[in-house]
Amino acid sequence: MRAARTHRRLGTGSASLFARLVRQVSLEARSSGEVMACLGQEHVPLGRFSPATAARVQELSVGLALGEFASATGEANPEIEALVRRLARHGLLEYRLARSLEGEDEVVIEPQVPDYWPRTAQLDRREVLLLSRFAYLRRRADQLVLESPLAPALFRICDPKIGTMLACLRSPQGMEQLVDDFSCPELLGLLVDSHVLFAADPARDGTSRSAEGDEQLVLWDFHDLLFHARSTEGRHANPLGGRYPYTGVIAPLPAVRPRWPGRKVDLRKFSRRDAEAASPTVKLLRERHSTRSFDHQRPITLEELSRLLDSTARVQAKWRSHVDDGSGGPVVEYAARPYPSAGASYELELYLAVHECEGLGRGFYHYDAARHALVPISVRPPDLEAMLVGAEFAMGAPAPPQVLITIAARFGRVAWKYSAVAYQLILKDVGVLTQTLYLMATDMGLGGCAIGSANIDLFAKMTGVEFHVEGAVGQFALGRGTSTEADEH
Ligand SMILES: Cc1cc2nc3c(=O)[nH]c(=O)nc-3n(C[C@H](O)[C@H](O)[C@H](O)COP(=O)(O)O)c2cc1C
Repeated sequence: MRAARTHRRLGTGSASLFARLVRQVSLEARSSGEVMACLGQEHVPLGRFSPATAARVQELSVGLALGEFASATGEANPEIEALVRRLARHGLLEYRLARSLEGEDEVVIEPQVPDYWPRTAQLDRREVLLLSRFAYLRRRADQLVLESPLAPALFRICDPKIGTMLACLRSPQGMEQLVDDFSCPELLGLLVDSHVLFAADPARDGTSRSAEGDEQLVLWDFHDLLFHARSTEGRHANPLGGRYPYTGVIAPLPAVRPRWPGRKVDLRKFSRRDAEAASPTVKLLRERHSTRSFDHQRPITLEELSRLLDSTARVQAKWRSHVDDGSGGPVVEYAARPYPSAGASYELELYLAVHECEGLGRGFYHYDAARHALVPISVRPPDLEAMLVGAEFAMGAPAPPQVLITIAARFGRVAWKYSAVAYQLILKDVGVLTQTLYLMATDMGLGGCAIGSANIDLFAKMTGVEFHVEGAVGQFALGRGTSTEADEH
């Protein structure tokens, strides 16, 4: 893989990071000292600053060297740093790595999580580095981007020589050699900090799965972790939700599939739609509907919550059995619950964000399905609020639900057996449990609504459990519906 060094080096001198406003954002300083970020019609207030700071940060449209104002102790220029960090929290900055302010961009870092701040891992020259098995390069419009579901940022690769360096990193490479060949210690430090590269143990087989991360990461396949991180909220900066991006480009599909040709077997004569003939199950299925507005005056009670959890999610039986692999494999524990689950995995856990519940304090709880108990988890009040407001927003509701159930998966429980098909099985289990919750809520005269996307980063912050170990895969809003909502059905 070694080519003439002159072809590979990424330029002369060391590279620096420059913070830059993302495209279409500009800064406006008012006479009052208030600095605003302007994004089309939208204005984001950033606070009051001295005229010198307001003038200086205008340089952000081209690039402001991070080293100039953000020292390790944060003392270099606290006002500029405060403003830049505020812009970063609003997702209005990107970071360019270049040899000078006027020089070409080598890499542009696009943050994917709200609290991203570029950090360079301190690497020893004896370190051996390797590309993460979750990292990938792809074309995005006319750009080449380096991404990973583990990374809090995306790297836009502007210098093709970096592609060569990444190709070398498919096998372990000594740091010294890399710096010698490519002259980019800053980039290597940034990539290690973002888990795109990792320091391998030279004494072990660096390319084996177990060389990277913890045991739980070993259980993930590339496509599953990417699917989880990109199809939920919290770990990427892509637009999300019902945005109708193809309006005017592609016509919407019809609600009902166009008929197949051929002679039909008419089933209508067998259907008995009269209510009296309907079984309780049919009635329950017909009654079920989504409820998004809840009655503030009459919150759900703890007794009702207990009954709902008992009937839908409580462990009903436990047993152990040998793995059926023909070799008398290890013993696996099982804990059956009221709904079906792929491979009897029962990997789903319920976490309750309680807004209003008679007999139960506002807070965050785990449902211990074996003991039929709620265990409080201490969380920051703004995080609890953000989770409830997220559900309110997703439902377009006037207020948060009385209780928001987050369905989390212990991924490893399924992946240990099913590997490549694990994540899709988990999502199917979520569907099954969601309908179980809907039906029980309906039966109890309560209301509920499935919520399509959960913020996996917020959930990880609240539980302190890493997103790849146990993560949010579904949500269900619960409570006593308002009478207007009930009347509509
Ligand atoms: C997987 C799934 C995700 C959903 N996500 C949302 C959501 O994010 N917000 C919302 O208001 N409703 C959501 N719903 C509810 C649907 O909008 C609702 O089921 C559908 O409109 C049919 O109405 P019904 O449930 O009253 O019969 C979701 C339903 C499912 C099954």
